[in-house]
Amino acid sequence: MANVVIIGAQWGDEGKGKVVDIYTQFADDVVRFQGGNNAGHTLVVGDEKVILHLIPSGILHAGKRCVIGNGVVLDPEVFIREITNLKAAGYLKDDSALILSESLHLIMPYHKRIDLAREAKSGHKKIGTTGRGIGPAYEDKTGRRGIRLMDLLDPKAFARKLKDALEEKNLILEHLLGDKPFTFEEIYDEYMVYAETLRIYAADTSLLLHQDMKAGKKLLFEGAQGTLLDIDHGTYPFVTSSSTCAGGACTGTGVSPREIHEVIGISKAYATRVGSGPFPTELEDETGDALRNAGREFGSTTGRPRRCGWFDAVVARYAVRVNGLSGIALTKLDVLSGLEAVKICTGYTFEGKVLDEIPAQLEVIEKCRPIYEEMPGWEGDITTAKSLDELPENARNYINRVEELCGAPIVLVSVGPRRDETIILRNPFEG
Ligand code: IMP
Repeated sequence: MANVVIIGAQWGDEGKGKVVDIYTQFADDVVRFQGGNNAGHTLVVGDEKVILHLIPSGILHAGKRCVIGNGVVLDPEVFIREITNLKAAGYLKDDSALILSESLHLIMPYHKRIDLAREAKSGHKKIGTTGRGIGPAYEDKTGRRGIRLMDLLDPKAFARKLKDALEEKNLILEHLLGDKPFTFEEIYDEYMVYAETLRIYAADTSLLLHQDMKAGKKLLFEGAQGTLLDIDHGTYPFVTSSSTCAGGACTGTGVSPREIHEVIGISKAYATRVGSGPFPTELEDETGDALRNAGREFGSTTGRPRRCGWFDAVVARYAVRVNGLSGIALTKLDVLSGLEAVKICTGYTFEGKVLDEIPAQLEVIEKCRPIYEEMPGWEGDITTAKSLDELPENARNYINRVEELCGAPIVLVSVGPRRDETIILRNPFEG
């Protein structure tokens, strides 16, 4: 019996989708605990490409239960579009396979408009959000004025909360952001239609997960974004608005920390970041372009080109610490093939001093310069390697050095986008 949390160990887009997809075969329930449709998993199933923003990729596996926990913010329009597309593609034949926490908060149309209008006005202070209303929805949740799924299912409560919300949001939209206000009717009517579709999926998911655990079922908690985008532990304020670290798996689902047995961090063999904010190993040169092209580093949610750079062991060590990682899944190793040399950042210099921990102050991280260790690269196609022995020696040396610098064992190496292009070293579900 093992319950496993999977989180991103960098700035998101680490290839969690594929790893979660592989681990799903060992789990009974796949549970999302934070974020919303700012996430995006591109999955290659057979030769088919499936993009999911909200619903766990476990939904593609028959017999698995997918749970969207209380820590997620849900855009009903996007959720309904995803279930419609999944059904059209022959998935989600049984609606009871998908369950929404009745306590999760809803993304409302004004959240999206406020997100976009704020970003448009922010100039150089722009966060580079996905524009999906995530931040404003979490603000309302923390401000104790959010609208939860259970409110939507009670038309009187929904009408009351929506009226109260619009009094404030329309003032913000019109007078602070110079944007269009909403009428009560346009949102109420639209959301009452959504309510009828969502009703059958709503439940007390904390209780349900508890019952499943008592029955000996295994849970996989699927994180979105990454450690450095965590609202508390990330490069604030250039972060998302939720707890992307392992602790979020408990607060975002109502499952106790004592029920978590393994925490696996996903990290690319290099590094990427979307949106603004510090990125010490960023490469703004042709090597960065080569990584972007070889790794197809364009966002699956917004299509934006991702910023690319070398593997940062300072970031990885930090992710090991704040998440208590029991293992690392190293992804996209194949993208580094063909480079004459590869570099790993082992520390930073700041004003003449050497730092081996990531500093908390944004102003300091922004001025940190990476200290690199250079290793010889490797040639050839490594996507067919089924074990470490089948990799070129220099690729094996690279993996060993990454493991040594991070301080956590590597449990999986991904050598290509397909499910079968993976070297599994230890299965966290089997301890
Ligand atoms: P928000 O989550 O839309 O508020 O965006 C806040 C920051 O998180 C921005 O820098 C986004 O680019 C980043 N972000 C949000 N979701 C993802 C993701 O799934 N992958 C990578 N970056 C993300």
